[in-house]
Amino acid sequence: MKIVIAGGRGHIGTMLAVHWTRAGHEVIVLTRSTAHPARESAPLPKHGANLELHVDRSEPPSPPCGRRTQVEDREIPKGGSLAGERSPASAASRSHWRTSQRPTGAGGLKETRPCLWRERQWDGATPGPWVEAFEGADVCVNLAGRSVDCRYNAANRKEIIDSRVRSTAVLNQVFSGMMAPPRVWLNASTATIYSHSLTRDMDEASGEIAVADPRLPDTWNFSTGVARAWEEALFAPCLSRTRKVALRTSLFFSPQRGSVFEVFSRLVRLGLGGAQGNGKQYVSWIHESDYARALDLLIAREDISGPVNVTAPHPLPNREFMRLLRKAWGMPLGIPAPAWVIESAALLLRTESELVLKSRRVVPQRLQQAGFQFEYPDWEAAAADLVRRWRDKVMEQPRE
Ligand SMILES: NC(=O)c1ccc[n+]([C@@H]2O[C@H](COP(=O)([O-])OP(=O)(O)OC[C@H]3O[C@@H](n4cnc5c(N)ncnc54)[C@H](OP(=O)(O)O)[C@@H]3O)[C@@H](O)[C@H]2O)c1
Repeated sequence: MKIVIAGGRGHIGTMLAVHWTRAGHEVIVLTRSTAHPARESAPLPKHGANLELHVDRSEPPSPPCGRRTQVEDREIPKGGSLAGERSPASAASRSHWRTSQRPTGAGGLKETRPCLWRERQWDGATPGPWVEAFEGADVCVNLAGRSVDCRYNAANRKEIIDSRVRSTAVLNQVFSGMMAPPRVWLNASTATIYSHSLTRDMDEASGEIAVADPRLPDTWNFSTGVARAWEEALFAPCLSRTRKVALRTSLFFSPQRGSVFEVFSRLVRLGLGGAQGNGKQYVSWIHESDYARALDLLIAREDISGPVNVTAPHPLPNREFMRLLRKAWGMPLGIPAPAWVIESAALLLRTESELVLKSRRVVPQRLQQAGFQFEYPDWEAAAADLVRRWRDKVMEQPRE
């Protein structure tokens, strides 16, 4: 299959590019960046330092459909081209080749074998030459969105919303004008779209979509408003028959640098990993392996469209979530952080308390109805796996 990942240079996009390239699919990433010129051995992607943790201990997942090739086992000849695929020279001028490492060999010995995808520049807002990337594409995944890990001041609010709504709207526009648009379009959305809930699970059928409520903090209303506008842009009428899925994603956990796992883990390792706020708010989360496998299912299942909760089946209260993460790290103690501490720390760290204080109690009803089996349904096992892989990575890094 040919898969285009818009906004695919971030945490989730990089993981997916590795996952699908290894499964033998052709992957193109749309990015605003022009940072890396085309070359045979480009540096690892932004979050690539930990990617081998993802691919190290698991068998490559089977592709949901289509051919399986041994891309990862072929050497890239000089010039960077795989036999039978377009060479960088013949590709559009702004295509870049990226490589990542995978460990191979008996006894876990590592050697660098390239797996590879291309990049194409876009602006995430207006049609341009990047539209060619969708020629013959089977799948579009759009992950573009300015990180919400910032203060919600006016400029950041504008960028948070524009980056999501405009990138989604321009894809709708482009697909409307194509004779053969991708057959399926998975667009990022967020579990934050549901109301703050301590007592009831939010599934796709009966979950309560949050509406602006003057009794709630303005930052909460802002983020739920962004989520609604994002999905409205996705499901706006479109002339194409592309199947659309909104990925209502909970916190995505992978052992990557700069990831949410690193942020929580740092607190734990500093002894600050106690309950946050009153600890009763629910945390919805998903392990990266299940995220990738869930997207495989959503691509394969022609009968699924609309919003889908991409989250593990067992959200848990923050207090318990932090306790199990401490256990995974072997930290007996964790100083709790009451709400006023979280507010002050958020100000200091230029982020928002909403990200940890709002309760997200979201469950993956549609995935489970579709027969999806989670590899990591419980946080305890997921946290243990993430910690183990993080530690392995640290051990593997060469000493200065
Ligand atoms: N990670 C999570 O826990 C989580 C949870 C729920 C939802 N999501 C959503 O899933 C998507 C991917 O998450 P992630 O963790 O991979 O995010 P990420 O690491 O921050 O990457 C987001 C991508 O968005 C692009 N981007 C940033 N600002 C942009 C702008 N102003 N205009 C157009 N594109 C822009 C960037 O691509 P370039 O800089 O290369 O152009 C970047 O690669 C995001 O939309 C996020 O809101 C994530």
